[in-house]
Amino acid sequence: MEMTLDEKLQRIDALRREKNAIILAHNYQIAPIQDVADYVGDSLGLARMAQKTEKDLIVFCGVYFMAETAKILNPDKKVLIPDREAGCSLVDSITVEDLRRWKADNPDAVVVGYVNTSAEIKAELDYCCTSGNAVQIVQSIPEDKPILFLPDMFLGMYVKRMTGRRNMQIWAGECHVHAAINLEKINRAVEKYPGADLLVHPECGCSTTCMLHAAEGDIDRPTYIFSTEGMVRHAQQSGKHAFVVATEVGILHRLEKEAPEKEFHPVSDEAICEYMKMITVDKLLASLEQEIYEVNVPEEIRKKAYRSIERMVSIG
Ligand code: 13P
Ligand code: SF4
Repeated sequence: MEMTLDEKLQRIDALRREKNAIILAHNYQIAPIQDVADYVGDSLGLARMAQKTEKDLIVFCGVYFMAETAKILNPDKKVLIPDREAGCSLVDSITVEDLRRWKADNPDAVVVGYVNTSAEIKAELDYCCTSGNAVQIVQSIPEDKPILFLPDMFLGMYVKRMTGRRNMQIWAGECHVHAAINLEKINRAVEKYPGADLLVHPECGCSTTCMLHAAEGDIDRPTYIFSTEGMVRHAQQSGKHAFVVATEVGILHRLEKEAPEKEFHPVSDEAICEYMKMITVDKLLASLEQEIYEVNVPEEIRKKAYRSIERMVSIG
């Protein structure tokens, strides 16, 4: 007879103790995965947690590049991902050959890459960043140094605007989920909820436009650009009661849990990352039971990628 959801969750908990494992989950994971995890957070928080854990086994409920980052930081630990097909359209928007050509054309440039990249790409970077610390990382690079920023053009434009950096080229990559969240959808949602703060992820197709409009008073609403974890902190600390949220809908469960007395409205119910949703309770259980799927990174690539990730974890 098939186990009930509760029985599966209890079995996951028993296996976690038996194997001295930690379950990490991204803010876009489905609710039962967030609820059973030891830690839920954004890319930066998850990388930090992976680095400091003393557990023997890390089970990463998120997408592949995040599990790879955990392995790069912890080569001696076993890192598992419940579904190795959980990819990311942003990661796929640049190949290592593309990057090598770009670097060859700009030999003096400092290369800054968003954490949503493969281990091979990270091995070619000077700095790795997340949406939570991209601005600080670019600010920390001497002003006379040209910068290549990849792969997300919306985050790149946002960082360029925030830092006023002129000598920064941006790769034209995008995430299909966030690119679809445009200014028109935002305006429609904002009109529906007067009095709500607007929270926007910097990967959104409208992030720079939103900032410009907000600065010029064209969006009749306090607007904040945040990583997923930044949104959670803002909702907890703000005196406001309602929030319009422009990112993947998985974050709503986390927000409702952390600020239960407040209201959250997604800009789009269709902002669903199918890769994040590949991780299910059944797959998490199988992963712990059978220790699948192990994430490995060749040592030569790992060592080079480690340097750029170390800088990311230490700044911001
Ligand atoms: P955060 O680092 O803000 O959680 O974003 C990760 C991501 O994949 C956004 O789509
Ligand atoms: Fe990648 Fe976009 Fe999914 Fe985030 S939401 S994991 S950037 S495809």
